[in-house]
Parts: sequence; C-alpha cells; structure tokens
Amino acid sequence: MPVHTIEPGALSEALKGHTKEQYRQSPQLRSWCAALEAGSVIYFPKTPVPIPPADIDVLLEQQQTGSRLHKNISYKPDTDLLGGVDRKSAPPEEVEQLHGVMRRYSSAVADFLSKFLAPYESQWRRDYASFRPVEEKGRELPLRRRNDLLHVDAFPTRPTRGMRILRFFHNIHPERTRDWAVGQPFADIVGNFTPRKLAVPRPDGPVALTAKKIAAGMGLAKLVPQWKRTPYDEFMMRMHNTMKEDAEFQKNCTRELVQFVPGSSWMVYTETVPHAALSGQFALEQTLLVDPHAMVTPESTPLAVLEKLAGARLV
Ligand SMILES: [Fe+2]
Repeated sequence: MPVHTIEPGALSEALKGHTKEQYRQSPQLRSWCAALEAGSVIYFPKTPVPIPPADIDVLLEQQQTGSRLHKNISYKPDTDLLGGVDRKSAPPEEVEQLHGVMRRYSSAVADFLSKFLAPYESQWRRDYASFRPVEEKGRELPLRRRNDLLHVDAFPTRPTRGMRILRFFHNIHPERTRDWAVGQPFADIVGNFTPRKLAVPRPDGPVALTAKKIAAGMGLAKLVPQWKRTPYDEFMMRMHNTMKEDAEFQKNCTRELVQFVPGSSWMVYTETVPHAALSGQFALEQTLLVDPHAMVTPESTPLAVLEKLAGARLV
C-alpha cells in the first residue's frame, strides 16, 4: 500500500496531551513510523501544519511577479539563509518578507515533527526547506534532473553517508491537486536493477580509501563530488541516474498514481520510495536527515538492505 492516509481526528487523538515519554512509546506513532519505513507515503488530507493565509498569499504571488525568482526558493535553517532569489531585481522588503515566510514554515514543520516523530528520539536534523512555484508538467530539464521520471533521491554534492532523506510536503495551490506516481518498495527495486543493470555496491578498496583521505586532508573533496561519497552514497547516486535513464523501466514498472489535494501534506522517505512529480504547482517542502539507528524497523533502512547485499560495511 503506497499511501497511508491519516485523518485529522486520528492525528489529534494520537497527539493529545501526552508526556514526552508517552509520545516516544506511543504504539500509534510507532506504527506510523514503521509505515514510513516500509515505503508508504503518509498522507494528511488536511495539513497538520497550517500556514497563515497572509504567508500563502506571499508565496502565490512569487510566480506572478515573473522572472525575479529561480525555479526553487530554498531556505537553510542552520544558517537562516534564503536562496534562489534574484536580489538584483527583487526589492529588499519583498525578499525579507519571503525570508520570513520560509523561516516560519520550516520551524512550524519541525515543531510538528518533533511530536509526530517522537519514536525517533530527536535523532534527526532539519535540512533545507524549499518552495517550488513552477508547474511540474511539461518542464524542460536535462534527463537526470527531470522530476517526472520515477526515481529515488540522492544529493550529488551533499552525500548523506547513510542518513535517511525524509521529506514533508504541502500542496498550497488553491485549486489543483499535485499528482505523483509512486513505485515499488526499495528492496524490490534494488533486486530489479542489480546486478544486471547496476553493479552491486562494494566497499572502497585501499586505493580509493587513500585517495579520499588525501583529498579530505587537503581540502580538495569539494572539487570532486565523488571524493566526498561513501560507497553507499555512490550506489544511491548511480541508482538515481540508472532509474531515470532506463526507458524500459520507466515505461513498464509497477506504479500507482496519487493525487494530493489542495491544502494537504504528505511525507515520505524519498531516497527509497520511487516517486515522480507528474503535475502540480506551488508546493512547499521540508527535508529532514534521519539517523538510520533511530528507525523502529532498523532492518528496513537502505543502508541495511545494501550492506546485506554487499556483505560488507558501506559507510
Ligand atoms: Fe525526488
């Protein structure tokens, strides 16, 4: 079942008036975490993180004011930096307003998830948030950057070294759904691709290890993204590319279509659940990096699946 729907009543029942310890032990919250880890999309038909109407207006106006903005606005909570805005043409007060909206959104999601993900005992950190104002349907992008092809996420320049990529989304379009395709569980997908189309992951040999150590010591790892990647990251990056480049897989693989209604939110481990954004406009997203040791079903992590396949440590 790719989609696990949580109605507002069930959510408020699970989140009402508990102590920290009760949240951590909550069978309901643990079962939702387990569903996420098993490859479900957790879907909230009514978002649990409502955004003030004035903030929504600021976001919806961004597209209408034209070319001042890049395709995505990004917000980095650790440094409180806003990216993707053309500061040469956007008036400073407009940039400041948008900065405030993204800052509020990011911390509101973190507040909600500190309860919802209580079984993870804070073993996660906030990564970037983004606002995606561009229509997903018909975008012209290079193949490896296309969102409408089924893929799992991997960061080319920021390897996660086994940390899991959990993303929380919000469709703020006033009328239209955001439409996704969602694929099979990670272990099945890996089994489809390895070893025929994608080499089984292998730990670094002594030469690669030495080269990476030297690059790190000399501060050169920034120059070549591969030098920062563990064998785990290298495999995840190759898997992302191979899936998008495999026309036969894109045409024939098992998938389910999902429509996220206006005002809804959803969350999913995007580094393991194959997904494609087929159409929709105006979505907010907050990424978390979750420690694989925090999982309620540790055997399900991509690192565990791949290390079993490789018979060796990969980070
Ligand atoms: Fe993605």
